[in-house]
Amino acid sequence: MTVKELLAFEPGATDDLLHSWLGYTEVAGNPDLRYQISKLYSSMDKENIIVHIGAQEPIFNFMNVFLNKEDHVISQFPVYQSLYEVANSIGCEVTKWNIKQGENGWFTDLHELEAQIKPNTKLICLNNPNNPTGFIFTEDEIKEIAEMARKHNVYVFCDEVYKGLELDKIKRPWFADVYEKSVSLGVMSKAYGLAGLRIGWIATKDEEILEKMIKMKHYTSICSSSTAEFLSIVALKHSDEILNKNLALIEKNLEIADAFFNKFSSLFVYNRPTAGPIGFHKMNIKMPIGAFVDKLVDEAGVLLLASDIYAFDGQYFRMGYGRAEFEINLKHFEEYLLTLLKLDVLGNI
Ligand SMILES: Cc1ncc(COP(=O)(O)O)c(C=O)c1O
Repeated sequence: MTVKELLAFEPGATDDLLHSWLGYTEVAGNPDLRYQISKLYSSMDKENIIVHIGAQEPIFNFMNVFLNKEDHVISQFPVYQSLYEVANSIGCEVTKWNIKQGENGWFTDLHELEAQIKPNTKLICLNNPNNPTGFIFTEDEIKEIAEMARKHNVYVFCDEVYKGLELDKIKRPWFADVYEKSVSLGVMSKAYGLAGLRIGWIATKDEEILEKMIKMKHYTSICSSSTAEFLSIVALKHSDEILNKNLALIEKNLEIADAFFNKFSSLFVYNRPTAGPIGFHKMNIKMPIGAFVDKLVDEAGVLLLASDIYAFDGQYFRMGYGRAEFEINLKHFEEYLLTLLKLDVLGNI
C-alpha cells in the first residue's frame, strides 16, 4: 500500500499528517497507538503494550533481557531464524520442537513438547501462524500449551506477526490473553502488509518484563518514528478492512495455486497453508532443492526459498501468496517446469 492509499481510509488523515509533530515520541510508543493496539486484545490496557521498531527489535531485546546462558529454551521449528538464534547467541541450550509433515499438511505433537521441558527450561518460543509452514494452532491447542507452561512455570514468547490471516476464518486468542507469563509479538509488517512503517509491539501482563524491555529500548532505538506511529494508528483504526483485503488476495492466489498443484500432483506435496501468506511444500525431485531454486531464479526469474535457508532437512521450499502478481509469476514457474520436465533433468522420483 502507498501512504496515499492508507490515508484514504480515514477522512481528514492527510491534513492531520501534515500538521503532526516531529519531535521525539514516548519510549513506550505514542499513547494513542498503544491504545489502538491494546484494543486488538481481549485483556490488555495500553500500559501492557510497548511499541518497537518492527518485530525484529523486540525479539532481540526480549531475549537479551530475559534469558541467561544457563537457561534452556524450546523453539518451534522450522521457524523465523532469530526466534532461536538470539537465544543460541546468548549461550542458552536450545531444543527444537518440530512441526511435522502429515498426510494432510503440517501438525505438532503437544506431548512431545511437554517431554522436552527440563528443570532449567525458561522459555518456549512459538510462531503462530508459523513462518514458513503456514501452520496454526487451534484455540484448544493454545490453551493446552498455556496450561502446560503454567504447570511447569515456563514463560512463552509467541510471535504472532501473521495473526489476522486465518484462512479457516476462525479467530484464535492472542497468547498474552490466555497466559499471564507470556509475551505476544505483533507488527504492521506482515498481516497488514505495511513493513515500511517499521512498527511492531509486544503485549504482556508481566510487569518485570515490561520494565526491563523499556530500559533495553533506551539502548536500541529510544522511540519509533512519529510519522510511522501516526500512520499505524490510521491502519489499526481500519484493521478489519485491511486484513480482509489482504486475506481476499491470499484466498484468490491460493485458488490459483490449488489448480497448479493439482496439475503437478506427482511432483509436489502441497501443504496448503491454514493461515498466513506463505506455504512450505515438498518437491519430489532428485536435484537438491537449493540447487533447483538457484537455477529457477537464474533461468526463469522466479524466486522461491529453499528449506536449507531455514536449516530444515528435506526437499521443501517456501512459496508466497501475498502478492498481486502471483498468477503471472506462477505461470513463469509452470512454463519453466514444463521445459525441465521435457528435458528430463529433474530426476523426478
Ligand atoms: C515470523 C517473523 N517474525 C518476525 C519477523 C521480523 O519482522 P519485521 O521485519 O517487522 O522486523 C519476520 C520477518 O520476516 C517474521 O517472518
